[in-house]
Amino acid sequence: MAGVPAFYVTTPIYYVNDKPHIGHAYTTVIADALARWHRLIGDDVFFLTGTDEHGLKVQRVAEERGITPQEQADTTSERFREAWAGLDITNDDFIRTTEPRHHKAVQRLLQAVYDNGHIELATYEGLYCVGCEAYYTDDELEDGNCPIHQRPAELFKEDNYFFKLSRFEQPLLDWFEAHPDAIQPESKRNEALGLIRQGLRDVSITRTSLDWGVPVPWDPDHVFYVWYDALINYATAIGYGEDPERFARWWPAVNHLIGKDIIRFHCVYWPAMLLAAGIDPPRHVWVHGYLLVKGAKMSKTAFNQIAPGDLAEEFGVDGVRYHLLRDNAFGPDGDFSYEGMVARYNADLANNLGNLLSRVSTVVGSKCGGVGPAPRPDSPLAPVAAECYEAAAAAWQRVQPAEALEATWRLIREANAHLEANEPWKAEPGPAVDAVLGDALEVLRIVAILAHPAVPRACTEVWRRIGLHGAPADQRLPGAARWGGYPGGFRVEKGAPLFPRIKEP
Ligand code: ME8
Ligand code: MG
Repeated sequence: MAGVPAFYVTTPIYYVNDKPHIGHAYTTVIADALARWHRLIGDDVFFLTGTDEHGLKVQRVAEERGITPQEQADTTSERFREAWAGLDITNDDFIRTTEPRHHKAVQRLLQAVYDNGHIELATYEGLYCVGCEAYYTDDELEDGNCPIHQRPAELFKEDNYFFKLSRFEQPLLDWFEAHPDAIQPESKRNEALGLIRQGLRDVSITRTSLDWGVPVPWDPDHVFYVWYDALINYATAIGYGEDPERFARWWPAVNHLIGKDIIRFHCVYWPAMLLAAGIDPPRHVWVHGYLLVKGAKMSKTAFNQIAPGDLAEEFGVDGVRYHLLRDNAFGPDGDFSYEGMVARYNADLANNLGNLLSRVSTVVGSKCGGVGPAPRPDSPLAPVAAECYEAAAAAWQRVQPAEALEATWRLIREANAHLEANEPWKAEPGPAVDAVLGDALEVLRIVAILAHPAVPRACTEVWRRIGLHGAPADQRLPGAARWGGYPGGFRVEKGAPLFPRIKEP
């Protein structure tokens, strides 16, 4: 694929100690929509997700359940796969950290760091939160509790290998200075820079207290601490150490999508490890805030977790995807509520998109014998479509799906307004009616492409109902968004509502 831009996008790999919830779905759906958008613009896309299967947290849950960590990992990893299949996630690979390919890559990469002299043995004693799989200092804890899990940290003492993170304070600052867009949005970049400027201490990267992990190649009594194994998944999946050409195709131009809970790992430890191994840091880390339910972070330990599958039963797969992408800006925290979900579904999907399709197909049936007319080259909607396309494309590029969809829905609203102003359902059949309906069909064609990353099922159905061959996923932008693509003369099908209205709670 020489000459074709590469787009590598990743989600965090999720822990297998508990089942997928709507917070995991949030990051994964955004990554999926981005992957779909970049396929539409003709990029060569590699989209990676997976599961993080080692560590004490997983080992303990398995013990509580009387099963092996491997059984725990197998079952839960499968639940993540099912959840993503259920949301039409189009990942190109699903990595599990227990796979041999991953063990090999971890050992190779950390051996390189060791050989470069950035790993040393020392005794470590500290307060550890098993929930985070991380050591905390006294002042980071709140009354002895982990600030994230609100549970007491435990005193651990071990002979550990230490990564000489302290040496990378300046190299990291220099690197981020040279790559000001590496962490976005800006507020999260400042947070990461703040962590580095506070001063970096060396960090323990191995454990002897458990064996559920990747063995340290130069000292097999130790396993790597789960985070140092986990981060490397992003390198494993693109052939690190196995296929240098493939690795160079995707790295370092990666796009890591993460929640703000794991900023320290992705914006401090990971780039430092890579520098220590002689590899460039990730080019883009996109950090989003938390999805909150009544102001509290949704998590595995909280009561308010919501399964994505349950929501899909009620709102449809597209309904869930659309909500996650549209309701909150990428970056700040956002509230998730059932009421909000119903309101937006009804307004945007049932009333706007659904209604446009149903009106147009009904009137084409009654006034045009069911055959769609062609759009006018000089339609008043043509410049609107061009503007909305530009705005949507720019927003996808900045990883702002809510803005991209806002721009796309502006086009839908304008088309509905255009119909209302012209009332083709009241007019006599003829060129005037054909013109208005041809324009509306053209908007539907363009919207079916632009909204496809968010609501792929509905868009594929719109495409089919307005009589087009192929599928929106096969179109290529920007050409396919240019006004005038709807050929006219195709049979338009009236069908059941795309998005049946949902009763307000
Ligand atoms: O941290 N709102 O895995 P994890 C928004 N295994 N996003 C949320 C969320 C919420 N309420 N809850 C979870 C781990 N997320 C490690 C990652 S990567 C090398 C290893 C999303 O299962 C968000 O993306 O705890 C967050 O960063 C991630 O799930 C944490 O998933
Ligand atoms: Mg977590």
